[in-house]
Amino acid sequence: MNPLFWDQPILAIESSCDETAASVVSGREVLSNVVASQIEMHQKWGGVVPEAAARAHVEAIVPVVQEALDVAGIDHPHAIAVTNRPGLVGALSVGAAAAKSLALAWKIPVIGVHHIEGHIMSPWGDPDIEVAYPNITLVVSGGHTELVHCPVPGKYEVIAETLDDAAGEAFDKGARLLGLGYPGGKAIQEAAVGGNPKRYKLPRALPKEDDKFSFSGLKTAVLRVVQKEGTNVSVSDLAASLQQAVVDALVVKAMRAVDEHEVDCFSLVGGVSANILLRETLKSECAKRGVTCCVPPFALCTDNAAMIGLAGSFRLAQGFQDDMSLDVFPNGELPSIG
Ligand code: KG4
Ligand code: ZN
Repeated sequence: MNPLFWDQPILAIESSCDETAASVVSGREVLSNVVASQIEMHQKWGGVVPEAAARAHVEAIVPVVQEALDVAGIDHPHAIAVTNRPGLVGALSVGAAAAKSLALAWKIPVIGVHHIEGHIMSPWGDPDIEVAYPNITLVVSGGHTELVHCPVPGKYEVIAETLDDAAGEAFDKGARLLGLGYPGGKAIQEAAVGGNPKRYKLPRALPKEDDKFSFSGLKTAVLRVVQKEGTNVSVSDLAASLQQAVVDALVVKAMRAVDEHEVDCFSLVGGVSANILLRETLKSECAKRGVTCCVPPFALCTDNAAMIGLAGSFRLAQGFQDDMSLDVFPNGELPSIG
């Protein structure tokens, strides 16, 4: 048993964007991890439509929760963790209402979880990973690009963030310009296979400013290439060039933060952590420095409820708990302990 985590089964629910997800975790052990994606529906519009997302969560939430409980073989969890910020308010409300109703019926505690704290705790879901502190964590998702210094578990100091687009948005917007559809990260990664990453010169913004990322210029640069090359554009080379530009921008600042804070442990989390080039480049840069690189298993990279369960389990073990007044919020700072 790891004292950082609550040693009882917890049901976790995540519905902040376009995935309805439920999971059961016990301590740091993931007993089930069910995700119902709305991607097909949102593909028609090229992005997430908030009203449609909330409605789809209403349809999916009960069967997804039931499946998570069935797979785990648990019919009465001891607490419920639910994402209550940041995210689409209508979408979050569906998860929060379900969590509070079940907590009331089962007479068990409920705990609200910040979505990004969920991502930060996600490497713990791999039983072979031991995250050490102090640590630097790179959070890269569709809405966030942040470098976070964690001196102790639960304490978060944001040391760099994006001025404009998130890394995931750079992939999503680039994919749209290349006609590769939504969501873009996986599509760009697949199109980039065999492509020449040096074919098109794309910017690495703010190379010297360690506390800032910027990805909006990349989207404009990709648009220029598409306009200039017309039908002669090599989708594969442009996807590879874009992927390399995002990875270069992230890796250089992440490793500078590791060097500056002299940490022995680095974590890569968030949907973009599923990117193979990013994972491999960071693993090799960490290896050169003798630093442990903690990357979640693929199932815990993009949005899922297991990570919310892990963060909830961590918070409950630290003595935190919410009540029936638990509310949802479109944004909110990472909740730092201490
Ligand atoms: O964490 P996440 O599932 O949702 C948010 O919290 O935003 O991250 C979604 C982002 C999307 O922008 C998606 O394009 C990106 O993660 N993504 C990837 C890959 N898989 C997902 N980006 C690059 N390479 C991938 N393989
Ligand atoms: Zn996320």
